[in-house]
Amino acid sequence: MITITFRKDNKSWAEPYKIKVVEPIKMTSRPEREAAIAEAGYNTFLLRSADVYIDLLTDSGTSAMSDNQWAGMMLGDEAYAGSRNFYNLRDAVEQYYSYRYMVPTHQGRGAEHILSRILVKPGDFVPGNMYFTTTRLHQELAGGTFVDVIVDEAHDPDALHPFKGDVDLDKLETLVQKVGAKRIPYVCIATCVNMAGGQPISMGNLKALRQWCDKHGILIVHDMTRVAENAFFIKEREPGYQDRSIASIVHELCALTDLATMSAKKDAMVNIGGFLAMNDPKLYEKACELVVVYEGLHTYGGMAGRDMEALARGIVESIEYEHIRARIGQVHYLAQKLMEAEVPIVKPVGGHAVFLDAKRLLSHLPQEQFPAQALAAALYLESGVRSMERGIVSAGRDKETGKHHAPKLELVRLTIPRRVYTQAHMDVTAEAVIAVHQQARKVKGLRFTYEPEMLRFFQARFEPVA
Ligand code: F0G
Repeated sequence: MITITFRKDNKSWAEPYKIKVVEPIKMTSRPEREAAIAEAGYNTFLLRSADVYIDLLTDSGTSAMSDNQWAGMMLGDEAYAGSRNFYNLRDAVEQYYSYRYMVPTHQGRGAEHILSRILVKPGDFVPGNMYFTTTRLHQELAGGTFVDVIVDEAHDPDALHPFKGDVDLDKLETLVQKVGAKRIPYVCIATCVNMAGGQPISMGNLKALRQWCDKHGILIVHDMTRVAENAFFIKEREPGYQDRSIASIVHELCALTDLATMSAKKDAMVNIGGFLAMNDPKLYEKACELVVVYEGLHTYGGMAGRDMEALARGIVESIEYEHIRARIGQVHYLAQKLMEAEVPIVKPVGGHAVFLDAKRLLSHLPQEQFPAQALAAALYLESGVRSMERGIVSAGRDKETGKHHAPKLELVRLTIPRRVYTQAHMDVTAEAVIAVHQQARKVKGLRFTYEPEMLRFFQARFEPVA
């Protein structure tokens, strides 16, 4: 089953919360937006948020916290060492995610940095179910080379595979034969793979991977940034999981892996924070040594006590069925409207975002003119809706040849923050995308006027090609 029917028994559904605090947002005029996007070098990362109407740049750190999380903020124990909030967080990580040891970090990439320094040596290879920008960069900075081992279907926006986050074990086998297991410190597995369109990995595939890794003495690192969303898809699609709770599926996923990096700004609904978790006390010792160098003492890493408390509480909320169903429901509600209007999007629809297929939507532009970047800018101009490029600009350049990585997926991500917008905002967004789709031919390509060396998509600047 690929589609999810959120409207069951022909009844409407609604978000499982009511709104206690509101933050006004303002629609700008077209001339204002023309000036803003030119000022931003046609890069939506460089827009001021005050110039944005509906902000779908990212679901990272943009969630609305609950009353319970805000109440927890008042219980922040801002001791330098041994804050009680650290112990609450540590207990939540062990209870819900199974990992025995944990060091907090300022966000996900802080954990990726420490992990890569501990486990990756120069000349190593790190296979993964597709890359993520910061994850791959930290592997490379430690001297490693990322190898994509996701199933081929993940690179095809139309392939209706229910678990496009699955690992292709044959690709792993080929890699081991080529370089040897000793040069593969771990396999990096993301749950609900961001760059593939928010696509889940199946429990069956992860179990098979566990066996394979045990056979070769290779660890599994879990990028668990969107693990609850992955669990929802397993419950919906994988035989044997229909009657299982999201909490128990999340726990089972985590327990199949050895270490985890977490950007808590996503699933766990805090505005800042993350951690590196593991079961091996020796690796924990090393993580404690490094965290004090790069983040902070091992009982706060990069986080304030109050933020650790909000995170401990957010973890519990993130695995409630009604929450996760509505969260993914909102994404699918938007996707449904776009599919009805025949806007090309990645299918099946993923967990955190709708991904527009810019290659098809702007088929008149070659990939070297950055169709996804141009589409994100055009959508902003049309409507004030902010989205994000996930294509050739994000993929960066090959560290050996200096050439652009040219990914098969050239996408624009409409990322839905958790508990922030209503279905009416989704309606407005859908109308804006449909309007751009109808005049797609008018959208011009872009070229760089400034290209940073690392993670270029964040700060690059562009101008339209004449
Ligand atoms: N892993 C995944 C799968 C992510 O999506 C992110 C961040 C990170 C790691 C890094 O975590 O930002 O806390 O340092 N993704 C954000 C996004 C930036 O918009 O998708 P971070």
